[in-house]
Amino acid sequence: MSTLTVDVPQNGSVKNVDSSSVHELDEYDFTRLPDRPRNLNLERQRSFDERSLTELPLGFSPHPPSRADNFYRAFDVLDSFFSPGRRSGFSTPKSQFGYGMSNEPHPMVAEAWDNLRRSLVYFRGQPVGTIAALDNSEENLNYDQVFVRDFVPSALAFLMNGEPEIVKNFILKTLRLQSWEKRIDRFQLGEGVMPASFKVLHDPTRNTETLIADFGESAIGRVAPVDSGFWWIILLRAYTKSTGDTSLAERPECQKGMRLILSLCLSEGFDTFPTLLCADGCSMIDRRMGVYGYPIEIQALFFMALRCALLLLKQDGPGEEFIERIIKRLHALSYHMRSYFWLDLKQLNDIYRYKTEEYSHTAVNKFNVMPDSLPEWVFDFMPLHGGYFIGNVGPSNMDFRWFCLGNCIAILSSLATHEQAMAIMDLIESRWEELVGDMPLKVSYPAIESHEWRIITGCDPKNTRWSYHNGGSWPVLLWLLTAACIKTGRPQIARRAIELAETRLSKDGWPEYYDGKLGRYVGKQARKHQTWSIAGYLVAKMMLEDPSHLGMVAIEEDKQMKPVLKRSSSF
Ligand code: GLC
Repeated sequence: MSTLTVDVPQNGSVKNVDSSSVHELDEYDFTRLPDRPRNLNLERQRSFDERSLTELPLGFSPHPPSRADNFYRAFDVLDSFFSPGRRSGFSTPKSQFGYGMSNEPHPMVAEAWDNLRRSLVYFRGQPVGTIAALDNSEENLNYDQVFVRDFVPSALAFLMNGEPEIVKNFILKTLRLQSWEKRIDRFQLGEGVMPASFKVLHDPTRNTETLIADFGESAIGRVAPVDSGFWWIILLRAYTKSTGDTSLAERPECQKGMRLILSLCLSEGFDTFPTLLCADGCSMIDRRMGVYGYPIEIQALFFMALRCALLLLKQDGPGEEFIERIIKRLHALSYHMRSYFWLDLKQLNDIYRYKTEEYSHTAVNKFNVMPDSLPEWVFDFMPLHGGYFIGNVGPSNMDFRWFCLGNCIAILSSLATHEQAMAIMDLIESRWEELVGDMPLKVSYPAIESHEWRIITGCDPKNTRWSYHNGGSWPVLLWLLTAACIKTGRPQIARRAIELAETRLSKDGWPEYYDGKLGRYVGKQARKHQTWSIAGYLVAKMMLEDPSHLGMVAIEEDKQMKPVLKRSSSF
């Protein structure tokens, strides 16, 4: 672990964000690189998001009309949906929201806010993050740390509630950590690596506070978190979008931090694919689970982070070079993902009939996938209408498992085309019992068991079938589902899922995850009062109540980046 000791200052006051110096931060078309002016998107088109939000299913009519209804119905509000400089939580009174279909706040909302505030971690008198879990009944391990990925829903909750200071502190603090020298034994990690987690150690006698960060060198399995850097960029954009304060992202140190992260993932190597090659356990699923190679969870975050970076990078000398590289990569990545990771009935049938051992450019089965490697379950799982991005694609390898985070991020980043996004939502609806069951939401589906479990997890007792990362149900994923539902204009799906969570989450003490095929049992080793379960619920509630919050975690489809394949009519 890396450490830093600092003296505690007398007064750690937090500056307010100056929203008077708001600059436009627009989405722009990254296909028009050469003469790209800063802050484009000047042609106002009726966007994908506008389209999907205005073409809601007829069945959607909650009572009484809430602010959300007004949002969906009023075109003038849509104008500000992705507009810059508007704090999307503006009309939300602090800690008062959480109104559902009635105008009464759900009692769980107040309880969740209490818990969230109790999880705050302070450094030099300032809040800098939230602890992973407030559960003292189990051995702490590293649950007493601030995890970068875990902090994201907390940060969104604070931003939505008009409390951006903690998010700014977190962004700056983790940026400082990034510059530390990171070593595992005698090997030095890349400069841009962001920590998985950090912790503040207080020494009352010496009046010092020490930061301890973990870049993977202490983590179980010793894997660096590839997702941390991506989440950091995504959060920087969420902060900028929500507050309208572009000055944070424009700071030289933030620009440099972004470039360091990007250097790591845009570097040239032996790759033949634009996807990012990863070790197992480098994301939310941080143990061996067969998600090495090109896992969807990372590819979707990679795409989202690249799109966010494109919006945040300054067009100065070093920034300009990165912008060019990002644009090229985005093109290649979206082509690759939309073509080869996408699975629907038609594509499944094509793979089933694949010829193998094809050579040369004319090959249809480019990765030489053996039809015999198709698992039995996928034929039943695939609905007539619907589809999803599969877990992994590599040489002679297709991992057909469903991963929730990757598919939701694909929708939010517009890696998924409009048709693909709709198809993913169709699949979630058709496979509700499998993917949601009694508690939202399965992190992966289905579970691996028996021989496969032994080989793939290395006999991991925490990841037995239908538990933890292996088909467990994670309440934190509720915010991602809700955001995806709003983006696709299907909030009723999120509402159903939230209602399910409300039947148990608080009674069960906000567990980290649930076990079982239907997610009916509190997870075998689940921590209680897991902060991201709490924050995920709050974010889902706030977004449903005021869908304009979506703007901070979603990016519109780029009209120029047309889908390359239309595989089937189920789109
Ligand atoms: C577990 C999860 C990981 C999370 C951490 C802290 O290790 O797998 O995703 O970040 O707990 O909550």
